[in-house]
Amino acid sequence: MVLLMRKFVIGGNWKMNRGTAQETKEMLVPFLKAVHTLKNVDIIVAPPFTALQTACDLIKGSMVKIGAQNMYPEVKGAFTGEISPVFLTALGVNWVILGHSERRHIVASETDILIFKKVKAALAAGLTPIVCVGEKLEEREKGNTEEVNRTQFEGSISGLSATEVTKIVIAYEPVWAIGTGKTATPVQAQEVHGFLRNLLTKKYGADIAQQVRIQYGGSVNDKNAKELFSQPDVDGGLVGGASLDPEAFAKICLIAAEIRK
Ligand code: 13P
Repeated sequence: MVLLMRKFVIGGNWKMNRGTAQETKEMLVPFLKAVHTLKNVDIIVAPPFTALQTACDLIKGSMVKIGAQNMYPEVKGAFTGEISPVFLTALGVNWVILGHSERRHIVASETDILIFKKVKAALAAGLTPIVCVGEKLEEREKGNTEEVNRTQFEGSISGLSATEVTKIVIAYEPVWAIGTGKTATPVQAQEVHGFLRNLLTKKYGADIAQQVRIQYGGSVNDKNAKELFSQPDVDGGLVGGASLDPEAFAKICLIAAEIRK
C-alpha cells in the first residue's frame, strides 16, 4: 500500500450569497492578495453562474481555481435554464460542486442517479467534481449515519472506474452542520471520513482509496479549521459562510497550508 500525503483542497462555496461582478471583485481581490504565495493547497472559489466570467478573469495568473455550484449532465440540448459542462470549461472553470445537500434536499430533490450522471459528464468535459454526501440530523439521531452515507456513496460515486474516482474530491457535509454553526467535532468528522475511505478501499483497493481526497464541510471557520484538518482522513474543507469573508477564508487556506507542507 502506498501511503501518501494527499494535497489539501479548500473550496469556498458562495452559494447564492454573492453574484454580481462588483461583489466578486470585492471578495476576490483581497483574497487573492492574501493567498498568492500558497502552492501546496488546491484552492477553489465557487460563485454563482453569473459571477463565473468575472471570477475567471480575476484569477488569471494565480493558483486559485474557479468552480461552478452545479451543471447539467448533457453537453447540449433542449434543457431550458440549465448549464452545460462545456460552457463552464469554455469560461475557464475547472471544478464543479455536485450533489450539494441544498440541491438534494432544498432546491431540486436531486437523486443519486442524477448526481452520478453529472459526475460522469463533468469528468468527460475535463472538470473536477466535488461530490457531496452527508446525513440529516434525524438520520444521525436514528443511528443511520453510515447507512445514509453508504447509500449516497454507492449511488453517486462507486459506479466510477478506479481512474475516474482518483479524479474526484468527495465532500462529507453533514446536513445538520451546514450553516448552523454546529460543526461536527473532529472525532465525528474523522469517523465518517474513515468510513468513506473504507468504502473506497473495499471497492477500489487501498492504493486508490489513499489517493482520493475527502473534504469536510459544515460550519468550518478560521477557529475550528486546524483541529478538523488535523484528522488523518480529512483532506481540507468545503466552506460556505466563512468563505464570504476574504480574510477568514484566506486564514483557513493558510491553516491548511501549514498542516501538510
Ligand atoms: P457553511 O460553511 O456555511 O456551514 O456551509 C457549508 C457548505 O454547505 C459548503 O458547501
